[in-house]
Amino acid sequence: MSVSPTDSTHSVSLTDLETAILTHYIITSHITYKDVAEDIIVNKLKLNISNGPDSQNILKSQLSNISSFPFSGPLSGEEKFTFIDLFAGIGGFRIAMQAHGGQCLFSSEWDKYSQQTYYNNYGEVPFGDITKDEIKAFIPKKFNILCAGFPCQPFSRAGVSARNFLGLEHGFDHPTQGNLFFDIIEIARLHEPDVLFLENVKNLKSHDKGNTFVIIERMIRDIGYSFDSTVINASSLVPQRRERTYMVCFKDKSIKFDFPQFKGEPKKLRTILESDVPETYTISDKLWLGHQVRTKKNLERGVGFTAFLADLDKPSNTLVARYGKDGKECLIPQEGKNPRKLTPRECARLQGYPENFTLPTSNAAAYRQFGNSVAVPIVSKIGKMIVEHLLKAK
Ligand SMILES: C[S@@+](CC[C@H](N)C(=O)[O-])C[C@H]1O[C@@H](n2cnc3c(N)ncnc32)[C@H](O)[C@@H]1O
Repeated sequence: MSVSPTDSTHSVSLTDLETAILTHYIITSHITYKDVAEDIIVNKLKLNISNGPDSQNILKSQLSNISSFPFSGPLSGEEKFTFIDLFAGIGGFRIAMQAHGGQCLFSSEWDKYSQQTYYNNYGEVPFGDITKDEIKAFIPKKFNILCAGFPCQPFSRAGVSARNFLGLEHGFDHPTQGNLFFDIIEIARLHEPDVLFLENVKNLKSHDKGNTFVIIERMIRDIGYSFDSTVINASSLVPQRRERTYMVCFKDKSIKFDFPQFKGEPKKLRTILESDVPETYTISDKLWLGHQVRTKKNLERGVGFTAFLADLDKPSNTLVARYGKDGKECLIPQEGKNPRKLTPRECARLQGYPENFTLPTSNAAAYRQFGNSVAVPIVSKIGKMIVEHLLKAK
């Protein structure tokens, strides 16, 4: 992606890393990015910052649409706390934590399409591969909360297992063992944020016969944090059955953290549906027939996935990254015609994104990104409680 100043005589392309540094600097004003950002401004963008206002103001006036990002966050100096957004996707954590007064100081997401959505909404291009030292080097030294909905992977049994896990002396000397969770641990150990706020799939506890979860908890405790976890279904706040594991870990172990309660009637899918949905979302005869045949066979055999017409008075099934392929997890019944898929805006609503969230331009990317995302109101409610503890302890 490239960000260019409005003045066409200065139009240049920046590398991904330069774009990330520059946009992080513009949005956060953080000292971590200052020198490199100014170097890019002077030497690459050829803007003179020596005797005018500071580089940030110059850049703000040069970049065409800085003020038009819907979620650029609190102004520097006005934040109540700071956080970083790892495995950021499209910023489900960010939108929730910013709403509580948090300033995001660093984001990382390597998927180009998600980076684009992220930029369009927050004005910041996330850094890329978080496993790389040259990317980690841009994480500001101090921040309060590390947020991450990290991919779930088994730990290598050769290196580390629940039974022979040896703690700091051994396990952490080998961060290249290939599990992204090691990167979270490495960052937490180095930067010592007050809180780790993590999200993962429901079956994290049973993943790899329990090995994965045991190691995660053990490692977090070994680097000096408390560890509380729970599984929450999003359906009391958004009309979607989405069960996820949430983990909250405090550096100050005297803090007693209780997850908020998520009670109340499950929300109804019909409340988030758009009217006048274009015909393109109606599935073809071939696809609908295929769904019905496969569903019948699978039901008879008692295995496999089934395609269902959604009950509009209940929450939808879990939105998954592959939903866009054939929509089988949630088909909306229609009078006198085949059912239709959810629209991207409906997917955004199922995950609790605000109406002014700028959608990805490609539908395929939108389904993938919302399917991978967190349910924002759930993160927000847990986040609110975390922030209350944090501010009390400050
Ligand atoms: C489960 S999704 C997280 C979604 C996010 N919480 C949200 O609300 O949109 C995990 C994300 O991690 C990203 N990812 C995986 N490996 C990565 C890496 N090495 N560096 C940066 N991002 C990575 C994926 O592209 C994916 O978007």
